[in-house]
Formats: sequence, C-alpha cells, structure tokens
Amino acid sequence: MKKTILAPSILAADFRFLDREIKKIIAGGAKYLHFDVMDGHFVDNISFGIPVLKSIKDKYPLVNDVHLMISDPLKYIDSFAANGADIITFHYEALNSDEERFLAIEKIKAHGIKAGMTIKPATAVEVLLPFLSHLHLVLIMSVEPGFGGQGFIASSLNKVKVLRNYIDNNHLETLIEIDGGINDKTGRLAKDAGVDILVAGSYLFSSRLIKKRMAGLLDE
Ligand code: DX5
Ligand code: ZN
Repeated sequence: MKKTILAPSILAADFRFLDREIKKIIAGGAKYLHFDVMDGHFVDNISFGIPVLKSIKDKYPLVNDVHLMISDPLKYIDSFAANGADIITFHYEALNSDEERFLAIEKIKAHGIKAGMTIKPATAVEVLLPFLSHLHLVLIMSVEPGFGGQGFIASSLNKVKVLRNYIDNNHLETLIEIDGGINDKTGRLAKDAGVDILVAGSYLFSSRLIKKRMAGLLDE
C-alpha cells in the first residue's frame, strides 16, 4: 500500500502569520504545500499569485504544489515555474483544445518540474485518460473551485475509482490528488477510493489541533 501524501492548502491559513502557519504544517509532517491561484475570471474569487510564491521559494523543505485556477495558464506557466513551483496543475477547462493542453504539459516539463491536470466537478473524468501517461498527477476537484470551506461532492469518489482502475490496469504511475471538503471522514473515503494525495485547507487550519488532524488524515 502506497503512503498517502498530504498537501495542506494555505488558502485557509492566517496570512498575517504565513511563516508560522507553514512551520506548523512542517511540524505536522507535511511534505507538500498546496498553493491555490485564482484570477477572478476562471473562478469567482481572487487569491494570491507569483509574489507570494516567490516569497516562500526555497525557504521550506516542501514541494510547492501549485493549482492554477486561471483562464490563461499558458501565459503564466513560465513565471510560476521560475518562482518556486515544483508541480503546476492547470484546468482542463481553461484550454480550448487537446493540442493546447499537450502544449501546457510540455511547457511545464521543460522547466524540469512536474505537470498536473485537473477537472471541475461537472467535467467527465474520461477526458483525462489520454493525458495520464504524460502527467505526474491528476487532480479531482471535489468542490466547485474558487473557495475553501465547502462541502465534499460525493460523486467525485466515482471519478477517483475510474482513474485508479485505469492507472493500475495500464501500469501507469500517475498520482491521483483530490481537493475540496476533505476532513477525517471524506479523507478516509477518498483514500479507500484510491487517492494518493489529499489536499486539505479549512479542516487543518481552522483547528488548534492541526498536528493531530494531519496525523489522522495520514493514518498515523
Ligand atoms: C478550492 C481550492 C482548494 C481549497 C480547499 O478552489 O482549490 O484547494 O483550498 O479548501 P477546503 O479543504 O477548505 O475545502
Ligand atoms: Zn486547490
């Protein structure tokens, strides 16, 4: 059984104390940091972007897992790669053709970093299949992208199961990540369905017991 990876989403952190918040997740055993970029166009919210990523670049022993919820990923891949992204995940829906999607994957990999693709809850999981062998990870959105703290959409578990079967049957190494509404219960369901990477924001950062909650999600 592969070990689950936990990627705390700093969207839910207290930005007055970003350094302290990041040190808390490191103390809890985090190896990844999930970084949600929203442009107010692809999604109905604006979060943070390149200057914030740059401010944490090389400061912590964490894999910077950048989730681009932006309309024009092709335009910004180079900047995010140059400013500390270790993984860049873009939305399938943000690009108009498979040609553009393959171009985005190549552009990310040309920086020596890892590529991920993600789908919104309304998008069929099958669209991801032709890309799997080219991707480090696929991200299943289990809430509508744009805001933390929403309820988990249970049908996303079926998408995870389809991917798990396909990846295993085809001997691929693509990781499956899930993002949105993850807590102790939904985290367990996601792991049982075959998820490799759990993103969790409000469940972790809203709690004084962040270390305990992290350990719980990791089954430690
Ligand atoms: C939502 C973001 C998520 C978000 C998850 O658009 O992609 O990464 O931070 O937050 P929670 O865990 O609170 O649902
Ligand atoms: Zn995210």
